[in-house]
Amino acid sequence: MVDYSVNGSVALLLVNNPPVNALSYAVRKGLADGMSKATKDKKVKAIVIAGKGRTFPAGADIREFSGPKRDPWLVPVGNGIEQSGKPVVAAIHGTCLGGGLEMALFCHYRVALKSAKVGFPEVALGILPGAAGTQRLPRVTGLPIAFDMITSGRHVPAEQAKKYGIIDEIVTGDIVNAGIKYAMSVVGHSTIPRRLRGRAVPDAENVQKYADAAMAQVKRKYKGFEAPVYCVKAVQASAGKSYDLGVENEQTLFKVLGQSGQARAQQYAFFAERLVGKWEMPGGNSQTAKPVPVKSVAVIGAGTMGTGIAVCILSAGLPCYLVEQNSKFLDNGIRTIKALMEGSVKLGKISLEVGRRATSLLKPTMSYDDLTGVDLVIEAVYENIDLKKEIFAKLDRICKPSTILCSNTSSLDIDRIAVATKRPEKCVGVHFFAPAYHMKLLENIYSTKTSPETAATVMKLGKTIGKVPVLVKSCQGFLANRMNTPFGNESTFLVEEGALPWEVDQVMEDFGMPMGPFKVRDLSGLDISMKITAEIAKTLGVTLTDETRFVAGSRYSHMNTMLAKKGRLGRKAGKGWYKYEKAGGKIPTIDDEVISILDNHRRNLGIERRTISSQEIIERLLYSCINEGFKILEEGIAKRPEEIDISWLYGFTFPKYLGGPMYYANQVGLSRVYDRICYYHETFPYSKHWVPSLLLRRLSEQNIPMSQWMASPGAKL
Ligand code: 3HC
Repeated sequence: MVDYSVNGSVALLLVNNPPVNALSYAVRKGLADGMSKATKDKKVKAIVIAGKGRTFPAGADIREFSGPKRDPWLVPVGNGIEQSGKPVVAAIHGTCLGGGLEMALFCHYRVALKSAKVGFPEVALGILPGAAGTQRLPRVTGLPIAFDMITSGRHVPAEQAKKYGIIDEIVTGDIVNAGIKYAMSVVGHSTIPRRLRGRAVPDAENVQKYADAAMAQVKRKYKGFEAPVYCVKAVQASAGKSYDLGVENEQTLFKVLGQSGQARAQQYAFFAERLVGKWEMPGGNSQTAKPVPVKSVAVIGAGTMGTGIAVCILSAGLPCYLVEQNSKFLDNGIRTIKALMEGSVKLGKISLEVGRRATSLLKPTMSYDDLTGVDLVIEAVYENIDLKKEIFAKLDRICKPSTILCSNTSSLDIDRIAVATKRPEKCVGVHFFAPAYHMKLLENIYSTKTSPETAATVMKLGKTIGKVPVLVKSCQGFLANRMNTPFGNESTFLVEEGALPWEVDQVMEDFGMPMGPFKVRDLSGLDISMKITAEIAKTLGVTLTDETRFVAGSRYSHMNTMLAKKGRLGRKAGKGWYKYEKAGGKIPTIDDEVISILDNHRRNLGIERRTISSQEIIERLLYSCINEGFKILEEGIAKRPEEIDISWLYGFTFPKYLGGPMYYANQVGLSRVYDRICYYHETFPYSKHWVPSLLLRRLSEQNIPMSQWMASPGAKL
């Protein structure tokens, strides 16, 4: 795991633990053994630690966190490095993260390639740097940067890291040779002044001021997350305590966090995110299907979604046509894209240079004839099946035979769109979430005809444009919206039965959702949800009128439509489920008119108002979705619970510290969830989403936790 060699007077400890050289037990032991060998060897005057393959160690081995701790731990290994009288140089390339950066900070010198990045991403795993990183970084960078890096987990490019004092020199060429050359230049130098444990934290007297600012920031930015708060406490101790006491304090906090439910959920989410990249569909999978190269893209429609998608494509450095039917719409689209790019530059998300280059790749046009040679087209017009079919037929006639045709749809069946073409195997759904330039989820949808190559192409495109792509089978609403539909319906039913919109919102925000369902509706516009409902009803062949409450064996509410018809279209109209008068119409406030609309509505329907508990709100909103999630697994729309959880984390901003709805259900206990679903099914027999999933019933009855389900084919239906 650590290859030891001596080159002249320099010993090389080359970590060899692919793919990311994680600091597993064998690596830690290898480093300790290598240090001891190099220390004893009189020929050796300096030591280099580097990583073989693609990176310097990218952290501790996360998989080991769930097992028993095995010595040597990183801190004693690091102490051995720091105490060495022979200079130790960390030669960094790739991603030097977490425990990897901590190892580097135990070394006396750090050199890096310009392309390297360093950081402490532990916070994203629900923990904190637990090998003295919270004590050593502030001694190098000062407190404000240490607070920022450790609470945000951001990856810092090498040149920036040099400015912070983390890197001593940017080197070029082969990293091992560069490391050895640097090591030779420091042979004979005393290591004592280079030992960070002996350094004072700069500006330590102002620690309270910096800590207060950092705490206020994490409480606002990472509401509900425990790890950032602990990170602040650990870094703060670096200035108030001795180095050794600071490390001791860090170890205690590390242990507490490591055993918390949040850490386990966030680490589950880390591996789930990687797992969804290993997709499967009839006829192929991520290993066997080869993506076709995509060098140019076209987006049809310059509305909110189209422009957002174009920004994603352009930001990834791909040329992108933007197609609109008239110059007014096209000009608006161009303006929106430029404004979004300028906004990203201002926020520091991209550099001015990248922003300019991206904008220069935009090719606005009103002619489909320009699209003959593009590799991939994304149709992003509004949800109207006839219009989408018309566009697909046109694209099929004009584009070269190899062009992949994608529809950005949130629910329309891809088979029904693809039928308009002679290339159904090259037709696929790509569901972006609003705002498309910001939300990380890309739900890719294969139809009965989509080829694995086409699926592989959109999965790869998703990664290229910085999204987390999840592949699902086409059905009404696909994974995300199908599963989210009961969430929306139940929230309206609760309000019909007696809860108030702001009470439902508060319960869900306390649960961890960034915004309650009624605020979300106001933000996206009640007219939009009204149109989508009407389009879905058309697809299902049902008629939704104001009076209709039970159609096709299910319960419907027309409250959104009712409010929309009263001009309450949401935030843009100054009123919806809330009213918006304060702070330029951005702050939702309680509206008495909504209370009387609800009272009238209940009277008309003969519903007697009742008190609804927070627990019932959570169960009705979430358990109904979880039940649908199990049906999605049963039907093979998604292959694994991880695909569902990732869709919720990145599509609906479900709190990461709860892992996702399926993980959450497992934590609550599948039997408990199943029992409550059965109870609600008895109470609301006309709501299809309460019909219990057979898979959930089987897992609950046989007491099989979800983690075991995939490995237990007997439990499969
Ligand atoms: N431990 C165990 N496995 C890891 C790992 C780690 N620290 N980091 C990555 N892996 C695995 C992934 O699960 C994946 O496995 P798979 O091929 O079986 O799916 C494989 O390595 C490759 O990972 P990615 O697909 O993510 O590769 P990328 O090239 O896209 O990204 C990366 C590389 C930026 C290093 C990314 O993997 C990453 O962010 N890793 C986590 C880094 C991290 O969080 N480090 C801190 C760990 S905690 C720690 O160090 C505690 C310490 O303070 C005591």
